[in-house]
Amino acid sequence: MKTKLNIRLDRWVGQHSPLSRSDVKFAVKAKRIKVNGKLAVSASQKISQEDVVSLDGAEIVVRGFSYIMLNKPLGVICATRDGCHQTVVDLLPTHFQQLHPVGRLDKDTTGLVLLSDDGQWSHRVTHPKYACEKCYKVTAKWPISAATIERLLHGVVLRDSPKPACATAVEQLGENQLMMTISEGRYHQVRRMIAACENRVTDLHRLSVGSLQLDIAEGEWRELTVAEIVALA
Ligand code: URA
Repeated sequence: MKTKLNIRLDRWVGQHSPLSRSDVKFAVKAKRIKVNGKLAVSASQKISQEDVVSLDGAEIVVRGFSYIMLNKPLGVICATRDGCHQTVVDLLPTHFQQLHPVGRLDKDTTGLVLLSDDGQWSHRVTHPKYACEKCYKVTAKWPISAATIERLLHGVVLRDSPKPACATAVEQLGENQLMMTISEGRYHQVRRMIAACENRVTDLHRLSVGSLQLDIAEGEWRELTVAEIVALA
């Protein structure tokens, strides 16, 4: 017996072919879609796991999800499309244009951005309940005191919540420079934490997300390995 996916033909074809879900209705009418060699009867018909669906005579093959790391340059925004600015998706080849950024970096922050079309994986990486650690190299306008480091580790209250924002680790790299790890992803969190300590971030660069270290040059991208994908899941 065939397993019912309980999925409509238009939804499935919309997910796995260049046609949108609404295009499928017209493609069915135009006799462009077949299910197991027979013309599809309606866009709403249900298909099963074993069904072979073809469009214009070519079988529609289910593609897997994609997982990318990108070293975001300054000025590029973490969005899929924007009328004014270059986006992280604009830096990828056309066959990756369906990906979305997994979490965000500000326009003025550089470094590691992940992109994927796997919604569950993205949720796992970004949802605060999983507390995935992100490590940043922070350059500040003024020297960073030992008292500031203490405050970052103990937590500073930001305007949007009474719950203090804490760094999980801080390492001083120079008079004005820190390596700082946080496990939440609050809006402009690092900049606001430093501002709450009466200093200002002049340069912010993300080096890692979970166990994944940035290892490519600015503006470059690469696919993650299976081990890297699993380690973040
Ligand atoms: N914190 C910030 O302030 N900006 C970022 O882009 C990421 C973390």
